[in-house]
Amino acid sequence: MAARKTAQCFTMLLLVWIFLQVILVSAAVSSKKRVSWIKIKEINKVGLYIGLVTVYTTEENAFFATGAFMPNPKYPFVDLSGRRFRVGTIYEKKVIYVRCGIGLNPNGTVSSSDVAEIKIGSYNVPQGDGLNMLGKIGYSNEQFFSVKEANAAEPLFWAEVNQHWLHLAASLEGMELDKCVNSSLCLTQKPMLVFGLKGSTANIFLDNAASRDFLFKTFEASTADMESSAVVMTCLSNGFPLLVIQGMSDLDQEIIRFIHLVHLLL
Ligand SMILES: *[C@@H]1O[C@H](CO)[C@@H](O)[C@H](O)[C@H]1NC(C)=O
Ligand SMILES: *[C@@H]1O[C@H](CO)[C@@H](O)[C@H](O)[C@H]1NC(C)=O
Repeated sequence: MAARKTAQCFTMLLLVWIFLQVILVSAAVSSKKRVSWIKIKEINKVGLYIGLVTVYTTEENAFFATGAFMPNPKYPFVDLSGRRFRVGTIYEKKVIYVRCGIGLNPNGTVSSSDVAEIKIGSYNVPQGDGLNMLGKIGYSNEQFFSVKEANAAEPLFWAEVNQHWLHLAASLEGMELDKCVNSSLCLTQKPMLVFGLKGSTANIFLDNAASRDFLFKTFEASTADMESSAVVMTCLSNGFPLLVIQGMSDLDQEIIRFIHLVHLLL
């Protein structure tokens, strides 16, 4: 528990540092984005708008086929974060429409497009006839929208490393990290900074050795958090490189590779 709190404080400091880095990178916003921001300001001057979001292209096509959406003659759309935000009206009500794309498989089914599957029954067999009805969890690609082309989702499983930032991350290895917050609150082991492993993000709390083993064996994922991929995808969708520094603290000494690692990924 103490170790967890210490690591949380440390993570907070790192997050502040990351935000500072993001601000620095933001200074280099391209002129294309500046044009978008000017447009957005103009569009906002005559807001408020009703927000309308669809997920699938079939939904989008059905929506446009109704002919109810009338694009704004001056600013019909703004391209932002790889998406096309369309500005207009529906029956004279001001609307901004966007297709967000599919993130997590929304109906929870395992599909043929899965990259890998974890069968719960391989790890947990009940007594009796030994049939585990929990089925399996599938891992599939995310849809990634980028600044390259608006509304053209690409499949994404691993986010690409930026070599410059990877080099910076490598230079941080070996950095001295404090073991204690103060005289009474210390980690049980000396914390260390590790770089070069694969970080992953889960949408469930992975306090489960079998799941972690599966992730390590199948994807060589050394760590799992619950937030990085959202930050990574948002930054990359907007054309910003980033460096994620994760303070790993949630687990006990059960699995050594998951504890007290400060993990870097790009
Ligand atoms: C949702 O489930 C149906 C089958 O019930 C499947 O055909 C469809 O592909 C699934 N959607 C996704 C996004 O996997
Ligand atoms: C050490 O830090 C913890 C957490 O901030 C605090 O609760 C505790 O009182 C501190 N102990 C000392 C001796 O300052």
